[in-house]
Amino acid sequence: MTSLQLQGRTIVITGAGQGQGAAEAKLLVDAGATVIAADLSGQPPAGLAGASTSAGTFRYQRLDVTDPADWAALVDSLPAGAKIDGLVNNAGITQRSRLLEASVVDLQRVYNVNVAGALLGIQALSPLMGQGASIVNVGSVAGLTAHYPVAYTASKWALRGMSQVAAMELGPRGIRVNTVHPGFIETPMTAGASPAFRQASLLETPLGRTGTVDEVAAVVAFLLSPLSSFVTGAEIPVDGGQSGHGGAKSISDALRG
Ligand code: NAI
Repeated sequence: MTSLQLQGRTIVITGAGQGQGAAEAKLLVDAGATVIAADLSGQPPAGLAGASTSAGTFRYQRLDVTDPADWAALVDSLPAGAKIDGLVNNAGITQRSRLLEASVVDLQRVYNVNVAGALLGIQALSPLMGQGASIVNVGSVAGLTAHYPVAYTASKWALRGMSQVAAMELGPRGIRVNTVHPGFIETPMTAGASPAFRQASLLETPLGRTGTVDEVAAVVAFLLSPLSSFVTGAEIPVDGGQSGHGGAKSISDALRG
């Protein structure tokens, strides 16, 4: 079987305490990576229990992605001369106000985590990266569509723009930057979604089901791996086909007879 070639690589994952980030941490440790899993909690979250294996190593770091001092502390915690091979800007929050109810405070709070947090991560860690390093930003189908929660959707569109700038600016140093766009994935974030949202999402998804955290983690691992060494500035939906039909699915379904 082809190896992901991640053995011994040091990879930082934000928002790794639960959901997709925790699944990515576990997969990458299994693949032999040295994972620094970061999240808000002062203690290693329960979602990461059992993350360490004989293959790779794992450590937990408390980090609020919006706080430059926390990023500086993470860098200070590394051994002198340490290199970082990967960063997954996974931490994200949602906010479900609609267009006419969303406040500027809502907009700014979501932007701070979903966009500024990723920028601070890139600024803190890319100086420690060299040829072959890889950054993966976690967008959303919201960033490809007019998904109704305006603050969240605007933040994910903004993240796409930042990712493309980062791919352009860091490419000459051999650092790749790509974005994954999950669809409806079963995590604590979507556990609170209304039944109507879940049902409507399923109707828009050609594969006819929700996704799992492991299905996102596999694509993230590929983008961190040297197997994707000529892929940068790319955006990969992991959404069961939700974004690809551009709204045409309901027409197809209506005429199927
Ligand atoms: P989740 O809510 O289950 O996990 C998010 C993690 O991020 C939590 O552990 C939380 O503590 C952490 N976090 C929040 N703010 C933080 C901060 N300021 N600093 C550090 N950590 C922070 O969410 P899930 O579903 O695993 O989402 C992961 C990413 O995937 C997010 O960027 C989300 O927007 C994106 N996404 C999720 C989808 C889904 O259906 N679950 C769909 C599309 C995108």
